[in-house]
Amino acid sequence: MKKHFRSILCLLLALCMCGAALAGCSGQSKDKSDDGKDEKEDVTYTLDNIRDYIVGLDEPVELEDGSKQALINFDNAATTPAFLPVMDEVNDKLKTYGSIGRGFSQKSNISTDIYNNTREKVLKFVGAYDENEPDKYTCFYVNNTTDGLNKLASALIEDKSMTVLTTRIEHHANDLSWRERCSVIWAEVDDKGRVNYDDLEKLLKENDGKVNYVSVTAASNVTGYVTDVHRVAKMAHAHGAKIIVDGAQIVAHRKFSMKGATPEENIDFFVFSAHKMYSPYGGGAVVGLTEELNKHMPTFYGGGTVKIVRDKSYTTKDAPAKYEAGSPNYPGVVGLGKAIDILEQIGFDAIEEHEKKLNRKLIDGLAKLDNVILYGDCENIDDRVGVVTFNFSDINSYHLAEQLTKIGGVATRRGAFCAHPYVWRLLGIPDDDVDQYNECAEASTPGMIRISFGIYNTEDEVQQFLDVMPKVMDAAREITEQSEKVRPGMAKY
Ligand SMILES: Cc1ncc(COP(=O)(O)O)c(C=O)c1O
Repeated sequence: MKKHFRSILCLLLALCMCGAALAGCSGQSKDKSDDGKDEKEDVTYTLDNIRDYIVGLDEPVELEDGSKQALINFDNAATTPAFLPVMDEVNDKLKTYGSIGRGFSQKSNISTDIYNNTREKVLKFVGAYDENEPDKYTCFYVNNTTDGLNKLASALIEDKSMTVLTTRIEHHANDLSWRERCSVIWAEVDDKGRVNYDDLEKLLKENDGKVNYVSVTAASNVTGYVTDVHRVAKMAHAHGAKIIVDGAQIVAHRKFSMKGATPEENIDFFVFSAHKMYSPYGGGAVVGLTEELNKHMPTFYGGGTVKIVRDKSYTTKDAPAKYEAGSPNYPGVVGLGKAIDILEQIGFDAIEEHEKKLNRKLIDGLAKLDNVILYGDCENIDDRVGVVTFNFSDINSYHLAEQLTKIGGVATRRGAFCAHPYVWRLLGIPDDDVDQYNECAEASTPGMIRISFGIYNTEDEVQQFLDVMPKVMDAAREITEQSEKVRPGMAKY
């Protein structure tokens, strides 16, 4: 009997070993990730399974009534949660972390290779890599879009006499970084809030040869409008200007290529943040024409940017090194590279389609609610990424956002989204009137509510949000009415 039992045990053991060996060969082995989830090494990421690979998606938050639920995160234009494989990749690659470009060690060599090889991946991701001209574009790493635009501006703008043409749709990052350094002119938005291309062209003609750079956003963080940047590139180039594109809101939403249909339509510089594409480790990049970047020097000085320093002078390296003063952000670059892999695997056609469905459901649902005001074009939504902004004429948006969090467990953003001139235009507030809000409490400054989707959001979540809205609106309306009694004339929205 004992002998029989022993042979069964041996058989089981052999089967287990065989299974493990087979799994190893086919790449099916399972790894435990840091937050305890099983992760197959050869997972194919799709829109259908991506919710399993978002860090913290099931993390419960406490609502006002003491109950707990997973947050419905509709604030992805601000920042996105991490992809689990991004987190795993960063943790894994930290095992071989060493000084980048400066050290003598095996780890230093491995980290330096990963850091530099990711540049080509970034160039390919934004359509800036051409096998026939591999050095035409290069990329330097930055902390985020704001950092990238400021670094670029500090290099390109030589004196105050230079002119940048931008638009009234921009995030402050692509407005103030120019205002502070040179003369700026702004193209207006049209009655639906889109960039007014005619005005842009008119300004280029009026200032023919005087505009050095045209800087526009690829997608608005307020209305989600996608700018036809290749059309703008053609106009800019025809008038002797170069074009810079703020890519913060496009990179996780639409396939973007710096290459246009013709060379005149090509983009010269492109800037984006990794934390808006599921890699919140502080990475980002500026992709630009190597020759142009080599002509300039950003106002950031220090180690890594120079060949030789003499007592009273120094010789700088070429781009990208001269744009990366100080020790690099290795986790930021590792995370960015992995996020690119995953987004590309999921595919931007699928992402675009999914966002349009979510936008349609949300807009149609909101439109049924009493006193709603929706911003931007809500009929033709094809040129909008997953961003929807709204108000109610009888409810202060600050109180509404707060009640949405407390009652519904829904994360949104409320305010003017660091795009004040654009939001004042959409709200119909003249520029001369906005100064009165300088010293106001936050709830009394005008604003709107923004819902912005990530690729993992679902139609069920939109429905959950719509279902809870009547209760949330009642609560917020009551607070609005009470505050009006205490502080009459507070901001309408
Ligand atoms: C269009 C746009 N540009 C620039 C930025 C600034 O990005 P970051 O905060 O990553 O620097 C944002 C941020 O929301 C944005 O939406």
